[in-house]
Amino acid sequence: MARVKEIMAKEIRLDKYLAEMGQGTRSQIKEMARKGRISVDGIPEKKPERKIDPACNQVELDGRIIEYAKYEYYLLNKPQGVVSATEDSRYETVISLIRDRKRDDLFPVGRLDIDTEGLLLITNDGDLAHQLLSPKKHVDKVYFARVDGELPADAKNRMKEGLEISEGILTLPADLEILNYGQNRASSEIRLTIREGKFHQVKRMFEVLGCSVVYLKRLSMGSLTLDETLEPGQYRLLTEEEIGELKSHGKERKA
Ligand code: URA
Repeated sequence: MARVKEIMAKEIRLDKYLAEMGQGTRSQIKEMARKGRISVDGIPEKKPERKIDPACNQVELDGRIIEYAKYEYYLLNKPQGVVSATEDSRYETVISLIRDRKRDDLFPVGRLDIDTEGLLLITNDGDLAHQLLSPKKHVDKVYFARVDGELPADAKNRMKEGLEISEGILTLPADLEILNYGQNRASSEIRLTIREGKFHQVKRMFEVLGCSVVYLKRLSMGSLTLDETLEPGQYRLLTEEEIGELKSHGKERKA
């Protein structure tokens, strides 16, 4: 009986299959089926409620094979000028950059500012997103930044102690590494590791130190690291190994 349930659980309705793969609304798909535009294993299928096993059945729309993916995971090197949102009336979104996507329910895991570049995970896996974003999990996020203004001598300690970035809002301890200084120490390049994701957090932390971030790029999030071969705007699928590591990383980090 359990085995029968397991087999049935893999099956989904034909209209759900096609809607999830971004081929239209349920009512549009019903109409497509009525017109004979949909076939299953080469045979036209007029019943949108027909159950499909994505692992066994081949679904076609207008003769084009529509492959099914329950979850998708993309690593995007976010470019500047694009917003971390699923829809926006003014700007291009990070989702529109994922041109090969199969699913229509992808979202960015967390937000980078419009002028921030770097690692952004794009998926439709809500459980994984929750594990990575939950304030209780303290997942490390590493940023590279160019900072204008002289850093105070105690900058590292102050970052380590936590900074009050607005009234009553204290950051968790962060690790600051100064990579190099510009002329007269009037600017610097740094790497900062934070364990939360407050609004404009990195920029606000440097403001408290009397400096301003002029370039910001995220290098990693948990176990996932930006692929240096990806130019801004480019993306790739995560490997099975990376997905596994991210899932176990999120679970381990409960403290
Ligand atoms: N901190 C910021 O200030 N901006 C970002 O985009 C990410 C972290």
